[in-house]
Amino acid sequence: MVPVAAAIAAGFMSFQGGKEPWVAPASASKVANPVKKSDAGMKDAKKVFSSICQTCHGADGTGNGPAAQALNPKPANFAAASVQKQTDGALYWKITEGRGTMAPYKHSLTTDQRWNLVHYIRTFKK
Ligand code: HEC
Repeated sequence: MVPVAAAIAAGFMSFQGGKEPWVAPASASKVANPVKKSDAGMKDAKKVFSSICQTCHGADGTGNGPAAQALNPKPANFAAASVQKQTDGALYWKITEGRGTMAPYKHSLTTDQRWNLVHYIRTFKK
């Protein structure tokens, strides 16, 4: 009966979340990462990630940070194909604009910081 229970639970959770899949606009997805991957950029991204993003997305990027438990929908798992198949531009747009409990970071992080975070998210790819 476990699969049935799981299906009911999943149905209930998606009902509670009631969220459409989050899709970046095509115009944003087309934008290439203008910031070259560098040691300095990755160092900054790591710092920003551990001070801001990690509480939800987890140190390993799988979305299991301490603040994640209370959230619905859950923070994205950066190791998942659903994230890694997105373009740099799409991920940048999401970090910039946010949705729901995922805040927009266009004011608190610089353009370079956000593009470097996209490089950083790629490091979680399995
Ligand atoms: C308060 C918790 C929280 C924090 C802090 C947070 N996020 Fe998120 N993040 C979420 C949630 C929840 C979602 C899913 C939102 C949705 O689907 O509506 C998400 C989604 C995302 C996505 C989209 C993934 C996808 O599946 O398309 C990216 C990229 C992302 N976050 C990056 C970041 C980065 C980078 C930071 C730090 C600058 C950060 N997040 C900080 C909660 C958080």
